[in-house]
Amino acid sequence: MKNLLLVLFVFYQSAVVAQSTASVTIANNNGQTISRHIYGQFAEHLGRGIYGGFWVDKSLPVKKQDRIRLDVVNALKKINIPNLRWPGGCFADEYHWRDGIGPREQRPKMVNTNWGGVTEDNSFGTHEFLALCKLLNCEPYIAGNVGSGTVEEMSKWIEYLNSDSKSTVAQLRARNGHPEPYKVSFWGVGNESWGCGGSMTPEFYTDQFKRYAAYAKDYPGSPLKKIASGANADDYNWTEVCMKKIPLGTMWGLSLHYYTIPTGNWNKKGSATKFTEAEYFNTMLNCLKMEELVNKHSAIMDRYDPEKRVALVVDEWGVWTDPEPNTNPGFLYQQNSLRDALIAATTLNIFNNHCDRIKMAELAQTVNVLQALILTDKAKMLLTPTYHVFDMYKVHQDGKYLPIKLQSPDYTVGGKTIPAVNVSASQDASGRTHISLVNLDMNKTVTVTAKLTDMKWVTVSGQILTSENITDINTFQQPSKLLIRNFAGAKKDGDNLSITLPAKSVVMLELK
Ligand code: AHR
Repeated sequence: MKNLLLVLFVFYQSAVVAQSTASVTIANNNGQTISRHIYGQFAEHLGRGIYGGFWVDKSLPVKKQDRIRLDVVNALKKINIPNLRWPGGCFADEYHWRDGIGPREQRPKMVNTNWGGVTEDNSFGTHEFLALCKLLNCEPYIAGNVGSGTVEEMSKWIEYLNSDSKSTVAQLRARNGHPEPYKVSFWGVGNESWGCGGSMTPEFYTDQFKRYAAYAKDYPGSPLKKIASGANADDYNWTEVCMKKIPLGTMWGLSLHYYTIPTGNWNKKGSATKFTEAEYFNTMLNCLKMEELVNKHSAIMDRYDPEKRVALVVDEWGVWTDPEPNTNPGFLYQQNSLRDALIAATTLNIFNNHCDRIKMAELAQTVNVLQALILTDKAKMLLTPTYHVFDMYKVHQDGKYLPIKLQSPDYTVGGKTIPAVNVSASQDASGRTHISLVNLDMNKTVTVTAKLTDMKWVTVSGQILTSENITDINTFQQPSKLLIRNFAGAKKDGDNLSITLPAKSVVMLELK
């Protein structure tokens, strides 16, 4: 009897502590919009990202257009990816566009020195990339070569893409099968110019930017949105110098790169699939650093550009773990767990909540590389938990931003604390409100009370992504372990909304 009472007491205690509460106030739209370009993707010539991911051998038994695999294209179309950044990354500053045009069998070969030392046959070049973007119905975002290229090379690439004149280079595009200008708009002037893109100081880079930008011309109907190579994580001086030295109006955006490293140690990043709660917690702590980075870089930009004419473009983000065992370490192939989904959802909530300054972002890197949306194994393909987050969150694209006030309970592990809950909200063109909520606590359900100022709504429906274990993944044997499911844990309670948010979950609500 004594033992039974003890068991009941322990059960009661854990039931009591396994819950906490949060409150959210959602205000009316303040005039800001969540740009769809925040939901952009990045695909580099790296590992099996392009080759094997998008562009496959003719003999592979999957549906293809030319050599572009259509299973991958169709999956990405479903989540409305708005833009695709290419050809790198570090590869961009070694890439010479003329190697990737004309008859494929005559294209020069090169060694991809950044990524695994493999032979690059240049079979996927400018025309193939733009054919892919057309299939995806997304905008191309091309990163030009500043590190090892020339002003002339970049200038001619833009002319090749966008000019409808009789110039030799524009006519070459026509002879290569595309008489119409491609009208590429998003243009990166170098990549990580502080590192693999040329080891430059910010002072040197800004001078280079001005030179390259001067000859990166606008052609009729194709105004360029030039994006300067921005800071590495918390290098605030880089942002300061760029904002001080590059005249407003010259750059459309300034980039920022930040990767979540689970351990925080670049030499031993941590496994994608095997981690403890303490390691999970540390990963989320590092993920939430994005909020601080965005705030501090934005504050610098605000001093030079109070009208927010220059976009902060987070064109590389995501979790970077150790590569999967027995894979080429230069290929950066990693699995993708429920933890990745929580990272994606949390980061997208941060971006939505900073949509006044962040107008564009690209997850690294779409297929088979780093925090991928899709993994392939020859003809097989699977959708990762991160893919499902982008699927749930697509309703925020171009939505009217709804400002949030949040009081979150703490999630504490090993004496350190993070907010358990994060939220963002928007209203779509037909007046439906979407609220995305994340509960990072691995153990506790959170009851959220949401107050919606002056908003009329009658019904609420929802979707949820969660799983039994934080380490759960989709595999080629079990590709549907993590799927979006219906969520019935949200109820109208007078004018308020009451949500029972399960531990380690992402929820999207729709109010009509
Ligand atoms: O995304 C992988 C690499 O990370 C990119 O090539 C580079 O820009 C960054 O350092």
